[in-house]
Amino acid sequence: MGNKGFSALWPIFCLAFFVTLRLSRGDLSYSIPEEMKRESVIGNVAKDLGVDLRTLASRQARVDFEGSRKRYCDIKMNTGDLITLERIDRESLCGKKPSCVLKVDLVLENPLELHRVSLHIQDVNDNSPKFKKSLIEMEIRESAEKGNRFSIEEAHDADIGQNAVQRYTLEKNDNFILSVTSNKVELVLENKLDREKQKEMNLLLTALDGGSPQRSGTVVIHVTVLDANDNAPVFSQAIYKASLPENSPPDTIVITVSATDADEGLNGDVTYDFGHVSDDDLNLFTIDPKSGEIRVTGVIDFEESSSFEMRVEAKDGLGLTSYCKVIIDVTDINDNAPVIYLKSLNNPIPENVSPGTEVGIINVQDRDSDNNRQVRCSIQQNVPFKLVPSIKNYYSLVTTGQLDRELVSDYNITISATDEGSPPLSSSKTVQLSVADINDNPPVFEEQSYSAYVSENNKPGSTLCSVTARDPDWRQNGTVIYSLLPGEVNGAPVSSYLSVNGDTGVIHAVRSFDYEQFRSFKVQVMARDNGSPPLSSNVTVSVFISDVNDNSPQILYPAPEGNSFMTELVPKAAHGGSLVSKVIAVDSDSGQNAWLSYHIVKSTDPGLFTIGVHSGEIRTQRDISESDSMKQNLIVSVKDNGQPSLSATCSMYLLISDNLAEVPELKDISYDDKNSKLTSYLIIALVSVSTFFLTFIIIILGVRFCRRRKPRLLFDGAVAIPSAYLPPNYADVDGTGTLRSTYNYDAYLTTGSRTSDFKFVHITVTCANIAAFPF
Ligand SMILES: *[C@@H]1O[C@H](CO)[C@@H](O)[C@H](O)[C@H]1NC(C)=O
Ligand SMILES: *[C@@H]1O[C@H](CO)[C@@H](O)[C@H](O)[C@H]1NC(C)=O
Ligand SMILES: *[C@@H]1O[C@H](CO)[C@@H](O)[C@H](O)[C@H]1NC(C)=O
Repeated sequence: MGNKGFSALWPIFCLAFFVTLRLSRGDLSYSIPEEMKRESVIGNVAKDLGVDLRTLASRQARVDFEGSRKRYCDIKMNTGDLITLERIDRESLCGKKPSCVLKVDLVLENPLELHRVSLHIQDVNDNSPKFKKSLIEMEIRESAEKGNRFSIEEAHDADIGQNAVQRYTLEKNDNFILSVTSNKVELVLENKLDREKQKEMNLLLTALDGGSPQRSGTVVIHVTVLDANDNAPVFSQAIYKASLPENSPPDTIVITVSATDADEGLNGDVTYDFGHVSDDDLNLFTIDPKSGEIRVTGVIDFEESSSFEMRVEAKDGLGLTSYCKVIIDVTDINDNAPVIYLKSLNNPIPENVSPGTEVGIINVQDRDSDNNRQVRCSIQQNVPFKLVPSIKNYYSLVTTGQLDRELVSDYNITISATDEGSPPLSSSKTVQLSVADINDNPPVFEEQSYSAYVSENNKPGSTLCSVTARDPDWRQNGTVIYSLLPGEVNGAPVSSYLSVNGDTGVIHAVRSFDYEQFRSFKVQVMARDNGSPPLSSNVTVSVFISDVNDNSPQILYPAPEGNSFMTELVPKAAHGGSLVSKVIAVDSDSGQNAWLSYHIVKSTDPGLFTIGVHSGEIRTQRDISESDSMKQNLIVSVKDNGQPSLSATCSMYLLISDNLAEVPELKDISYDDKNSKLTSYLIIALVSVSTFFLTFIIIILGVRFCRRRKPRLLFDGAVAIPSAYLPPNYADVDGTGTLRSTYNYDAYLTTGSRTSDFKFVHITVTCANIAAFPF
């Protein structure tokens, strides 16, 4: 407070203290502070010189300045005071001189008096310390060592003495302290600089004077820290991890490493390169030395290598290096299709394996990983096989149903494998599987039964028919061999009738057949395959023998020409149309071959008799007249209807007479002495019996016939026709008193040439059986 109050009272104090009259011989001396206001009183010269004011005025007191100096002061006449006219600046008048005296001449006239007035100008702290510039630029390399000194130009203060610069202060900072020695101002580096921490700083330096009040001046020292290569590059990460899909095309950017170097310029210029890389990986990646981009240059195959580890070096311009690690994990891409391996296969498989039999083993592999290697296997639907998953990627190929080689003998089983990648890849493999034969099919005849038709009298060895049996089995299991099953036909072994070609199934006749002996028979033919054990089946072959016209008609009545003694009596009174006799013939053939027709080939009197074409009945064509010859001779031909037809002829002797007495003449006509008596008797007996029998039948039929309509007598003579002579199958006598052939019997007849010469005729009639005709 005292200090402040002192400052405020400064001008008054100055006046009181410095403006003191210095009396010397004629000289005046005043001491005044600089920078006084205009017209400030320096001193009263009138008083100090001892001159009254009137004298002062009358003597024209005045002040003179040496040279062309400014008029700093003047005399105020009415008071006799010396006052300032100009601002008096000590610094401009005297500079740094420690004492500053302004000399003024005071002149009085009448008489001239010269007084020297010395004005001692006292310094006043009116100047602040001043730096030359307000900003000092400094550049200090960061490598500067502790203790290094950096001089600063000092501050200047126009004042002198205590009012000049007395001390400096430096704003507090981390690096520098101030050292001031004998007007040398220096910054001293106390802590090392780090450009990377602080690139520049402003330090405020203040200079203080010792005046009162104290004045100060400041300067800003701008320190720029210059770089030194004191930093190695630093990677942003110690370990870089990247994930790279396999098969990434060349030039794919995998990752960008980045290292920063805190240094500047060349010192901070980072280039990248791979550290040690194995030869395998060398060509897979490149690194851009400038940008640090790691790119793909080769083929990235997950299956070859699923990860890469590399060291990357960063180097600055002056060779400081650092390293980082780059780990590239390759991610799997589904680029491998599953591969199907057939590990084992039972081929061929027998067709009788039971369902569920393991046929083969399949292994599926996929080189990808995870889902991309999850494989599903399947086979097509329409085969009787399935895949049964087994351990790991193994599958069993198993039958699901019964196999039948005869239906499907080969399977192409397509196995498909699909992985679960996205998109999924698949592959397929076709397994060819054959089914081996088992003799499970017997031969089967194409027909239920076979019939063979053969004409009798066939040549031995002729082909009758052929049987065919099929066996779908394979090779010998399907090879069919035919054979006849043992059996008998008419008491003889079948093999004496037929033979069968074992390979072809063609059936041959062994002998010639006779229709008249038997008309059909059956044999069993077996078809057997060559399997082991063999399978067989049987079929019936019916052989039907057909008739051939191989038998000539046999004339039973009358006996053949030359051997007959038969003579028919024709009553003289016979009218036209009367039945006089009947030619009876048989044919042991059948059908057309036994259909007989009768014709008169020659006759004594052609107009007199006719013969029924099919009945063989001989009738008169007109009434007998007296003129007709008594002995009539007819030659009758009997033909069958076969192709060609066969025929037989006979002669019939007719005697037109009412009287048997005339019979002796017969001998002339027909009888030959050579005929044995026995034969004659037999014939007579036969004729008699037959006539009797026929008559009896006729009577019975006649009675039945007469009941219905009035009977007409067809012939009035006792014409005896032996009924036994009726043709076997062809007895269609038109209801006129002959038999329907409803009987079956054997007849032994003589044909007359020798007594013991009988001919056997077997007559078969369809209905009943009469065991034997009493003969
Ligand atoms: C199986 O494949 C083979 C060869 O491609 C072919 O010759 C044969 O006919 C096929 N079999 C079936 C039953 O499809
Ligand atoms: C025939 O079948 C048998 C089993 O019945 C079998 O062992 C054999 O191999 C088959 N023969 C042929 C040629 O297939
Ligand atoms: C065929 O006949 C033979 C002999 O009678 C017999 O042993 C065999 O079992 C028969 N075969 C068939 C399939 O009937």
